Amino acid sequence: MHVLVIGASKGTGRALVDELVTRGHRVRGMIRDPEQATDLAEAGAEPVHGDLEGDLDGVFEGVDAVAFCAGSGSATGADATLRVDLHGAVRSFDACLEHGVRRYVLLSSNRAEDPLAGPEEMRHYLAAMHARERLLWASGLDATVVRPGRLTYDAPTGRIRVGVPQIPDRGEIPRADVAAVLASCLERDDLVGAVFGVLAGEEPIEDALASLT
Ligand SMILES: NC(=O)c1ccc[n+]([C@@H]2O[C@H](COP(=O)([O-])OP(=O)(O)OC[C@H]3O[C@@H](n4cnc5c(N)ncnc54)[C@H](OP(=O)(O)O)[C@@H]3O)[C@@H](O)[C@H]2O)c1
Repeated sequence: MHVLVIGASKGTGRALVDELVTRGHRVRGMIRDPEQATDLAEAGAEPVHGDLEGDLDGVFEGVDAVAFCAGSGSATGADATLRVDLHGAVRSFDACLEHGVRRYVLLSSNRAEDPLAGPEEMRHYLAAMHARERLLWASGLDATVVRPGRLTYDAPTGRIRVGVPQIPDRGEIPRADVAAVLASCLERDDLVGAVFGVLAGEEPIEDALASLT
């Protein structure tokens, strides 16, 4: 499969690049800073320049699937959440429709189901997560929505816990395990239409994903 990873420079998206390359997929990684191209090329991916707040020309052409792992991060304000996390995601939905890309996997957040139940300082972010999920379903793309808890840089365990549509408890999960979950979602047609929460757990990833279908 030829997969475009949005947010490929670092964090979960960068881990997903490695995971997909290891699994034998062809990977295109979207980056904003040209200096990040060498790292992606050395990882076995094809770097492509794109900005969710700017030019996306040539980014979506010819891929089979898109994984959206980008985000403005907690160091920026609510305005960046709207421009990048919400509107940037919607722009990517539109670009998929325009270029005939059907498969889409969205990295969301575990408390996106009910933003007003989240802590006050996170409600704008959870509202953006919630709204973009709704817009993704409305787009008609063949989508899967993955809602992880707090992301860590701990070593992957290959074991998770899932819950539909989310897990009520707070918890965390290594980014590399989320990357493996996202890669498996891309490979599984039976998870089109699925939305689930994921935390570190005891069940092997493939068993946990199979339990969702
Ligand atoms: N952190 C958590 O605990 C947590 C928990 C649940 C869900 N999530 C979700 O998971 C996502 C990924 O988190 P992460 O910590 O793994 O990622 P991250 O390290 O924060 O990386 C974010 C990525 O988004 C890219 N990006 C930012 N603005 C962009 C723009 N305008 N155009 C294109 N790319 C842009 C960044 O590229 P640059 O290198 O160019 O900045 C980077 O590749 C978050 O955004 C959030 O939605 C996070």
